[in-house]
Formats: sequence, C-alpha cells, structure tokens
Amino acid sequence: MNQKHESRPRLNGKVAMITGATGGIGEATAKLFLQEGASVMLVARSAEKLKETRERLGIDTRLSDFVADATDEAATAAAVDATVKAFGGIDILIANAGTEGPVKPIEAQSMADFEQVLRTNVIGVWLAMKYCVAPMKKRGGGSMIALSSIAGVIGSPGLAPYIASKHAVYGLVKTVALELGASKIRVNAIGPGPIDNRMIRSIETQASSENPDAVRAYFTTMIPMQRYGTNEEVAQLALFLASDDASYCTGGIHMIDGGFTAA
Ligand SMILES: NC(=O)c1ccc[n+]([C@@H]2O[C@H](COP(=O)([O-])OP(=O)(O)OC[C@H]3O[C@@H](n4cnc5c(N)ncnc54)[C@H](OP(=O)(O)O)[C@@H]3O)[C@@H](O)[C@H]2O)c1
Repeated sequence: MNQKHESRPRLNGKVAMITGATGGIGEATAKLFLQEGASVMLVARSAEKLKETRERLGIDTRLSDFVADATDEAATAAAVDATVKAFGGIDILIANAGTEGPVKPIEAQSMADFEQVLRTNVIGVWLAMKYCVAPMKKRGGGSMIALSSIAGVIGSPGLAPYIASKHAVYGLVKTVALELGASKIRVNAIGPGPIDNRMIRSIETQASSENPDAVRAYFTTMIPMQRYGTNEEVAQLALFLASDDASYCTGGIHMIDGGFTAA
C-alpha cells in the first residue's frame, strides 16, 4: 500500500454491495474496498464459497455476506435490504456476477445455454441496479459499476451468448446513467480483457480441452501488453470508479485490457 492510500482511504464510510463476490475479481475488489475503508456486503449464490471467501478476507466488523442467485429477483431485493440493514445504507454497487457459458458455434448453442447466460449476465445486472436505486437516492447519490468485458465491444467466435450479454450490459449502463444522472448516481461499466482467473481458464479449456495453453498463447498474441491482467488490476479500476475521484465519470465503458481493443 502506498503513502497516498495510507493517508487517504478512498472509501471511508461508504457501503458497497458486491455480487459474484466469491469469484476472482469480486474477492479482489472486496479486499481492496475493505482496505480503503468501505463496509462490504459479499453476495454470491454458494453459501460454502461465501464462507471460504470470508475466511480469506478475515474477520472484520465492516464485512457481511448474503446468499442470492443473481437471476432471482426476490433474493436480489433481499440482498439489497440486508446491506441497508447491516450498514445503514448503500453507496456502491459492483454488479459483477457473471458466467462465460458454453463455448460452441452458434448452431450448437441450445436455448437453455443462451437463456442462462443472458439471465445471469444481463437480467442479474439489471435486477441489482433496479433494487439499488431507492437506497442510493436516499443517500443523495451513489456509484453503480457493472462488469462488462472486451466482449461488450467486439465479437469472438464460439461465444455468442457471452458476447451478446456483455454488449447488453453496456446498453444497460448507458441507459441507467441517463436516467440517474440528475440523482447523482453515476453508472459505469468496466471492460476487462482476459484476466488470469477461473473464467478465462474455462474459456481456454472449452475452446481446446487437449491444448488450453495454445489458446492462452493465441489470446496473448492479441494483447499489445502481451500478458493477461490480474484480478487486483481490475479491482483498482473499480476503486477509482467507486470513489469520489471519479466524480464526473458516468455512462462510460472503461477498458482494462492491455490494449486489446485499441486495434
Ligand atoms: N475473467 C475474465 O477474463 C473476465 C474478462 C472480462 C470480464 N469478466 C467479467 O468479470 C466478472 C467476474 O468474473 P471473474 O473473472 O471474477 O470470474 P469468476 O471467478 O468465475 O467469478 C464469477 C462470479 O460470478 C458468480 N456467479 C455466476 N453465476 C451466478 C449466478 N447465477 N448467481 C450469482 N452468482 C453467480 C460466480 O459464483 P460461483 O462461483 O458460485 O459460480 C462467481 O462468484 C464477470 O461478470 C465476468 O464476465 C471476466
């Protein structure tokens, strides 16, 4: 931690709800937000994984958790209520729960596959945003951050449901930013390139079960910085967008992709 962070925790007194908090980016974001003074509600669908995540993050009075599937409206509403009850309000939403879905050509994708990806990645983000509006208005403002992807601005063979879902996230972010600007609620998307964690490994393995390393090598050739990003690097961008440092940022998709989409 550098001097600047020690002297000025950037989320002091803020309350954040993080969905998909048991995943790579979600946990790294929770850890950084706790370090920066926020109270954090971890939301995820697996009670077991939540327990493990909490154990890794350590005991902290500013940390709580709630089990909710991102596709379940009542559970999402209850997660927002639980956050307000635990910490007195809500200032930051990290709508991060997401699934890569199956990697298959379009003619091999099933209706169920497609629907599951859209339900999680699009309806899940929309629900979290929807139920955070009232408590954020009560606080006089807030910051909503949704995880889109480079998949929100480019295509990629074999990933039709995921690509469609991440483009939709960007559309949601732009629309909700327009609706909530006057209420001082900023709404932004993060667009990571390949991040070195479970999800990208699943995509590599689905693309080539016999040689996932070759897929990784191929993806790496498409990244000007010639490496995957880390969960911690994405968390730093989330911190910026969540904090008052980003006071004039809304409606944008903020790429963090080693230059992948610059070409
Ligand atoms: N990794 C990358 O390269 C990359 C690149 C661009 C964007 N992203 C986006 O970043 C976000 C975080 O993903 P990650 O990279 O951290 O991958 P991850 O480690 O697989 O984390 C995904 C998280 O979402 C949760 N989740 C999935 N379906 C859910 C559902 N129906 N209800 C509730 N939670 C659900 C997972 O819970 P379970 O563990 O219970 O499944 C997990 O906590 C995702 O939106 C992803 O699309 C990732």
